[in-house]
Amino acid sequence: MKKNNKKISMITAYDYTTAKIISDTNIDWVLVGDSAAMTMHGHNSTPEISVDEMISHTKAVCKGISDKLIIGDIPLKAFNENILEVVNRFIKAGANAVKLEGVDGFEDIIKQIVDKDIKVMGHLGLTPQTIDISSGNVVQARDESSAEKLIADAKKLEQLGCFAIVLECIPAKLASQVSQEINIPTIGIGAGIGCDGQVLVIQDMLGMNDNKFKFVKKYLNGQKLISDALNEFDKDVKEQKFPTEENSFK
Ligand code: KIV
Repeated sequence: MKKNNKKISMITAYDYTTAKIISDTNIDWVLVGDSAAMTMHGHNSTPEISVDEMISHTKAVCKGISDKLIIGDIPLKAFNENILEVVNRFIKAGANAVKLEGVDGFEDIIKQIVDKDIKVMGHLGLTPQTIDISSGNVVQARDESSAEKLIADAKKLEQLGCFAIVLECIPAKLASQVSQEINIPTIGIGAGIGCDGQVLVIQDMLGMNDNKFKFVKKYLNGQKLISDALNEFDKDVKEQKFPTEENSFK
């Protein structure tokens, strides 16, 4: 797709029902992101999710998707275990690839996974497993030396055999430059239009929360649509308009 100048769409998913809906859309890739820590479990940050929880989400998503590339996100807690065993669990759960944040110190692990013929997606820029954003400082690689380091890291991930790289919250100009300087696709989130593809967290783009991130476009007011439906159900119950005869057994 990159060679043919065709942009790649990627969306996160964590459960079977949503996966079934995504399965019948034109979305190219599905990421079972460790953002499940927040979207599914109500935690404050991604490091809180366990390997078992991520495997469970991956199994559910893989059951719902028939013909798309599914990437399982390796959570931080996996590094307390044997990483290759964790990767195998993701593949056994149905994932076609795994994603790993960062590069320094992970070179051997990436190489070992790639050598096992398993696809690895890199992740640079804002890597929420290790970067504290409580200060509100989300945009990474703003100065020249960290921008140069990010370009070098992207090239290193390509050399190590990654098939794609997520670029999160970096200046658009830098993301464009990275995308031009490597042959594998870059998938941006808060990284501007010059990436080879884009990813969003599904709850954010469906407007299921109050998040007001600059890099998110809300395609639906999901929160209002769902709460309106729930209030309508509540009203029907209280006014004895539901169930009707149609919904009842003779
Ligand atoms: O966990 C996640 O959802 C991610 C995306 C934001 C890229 O890593």
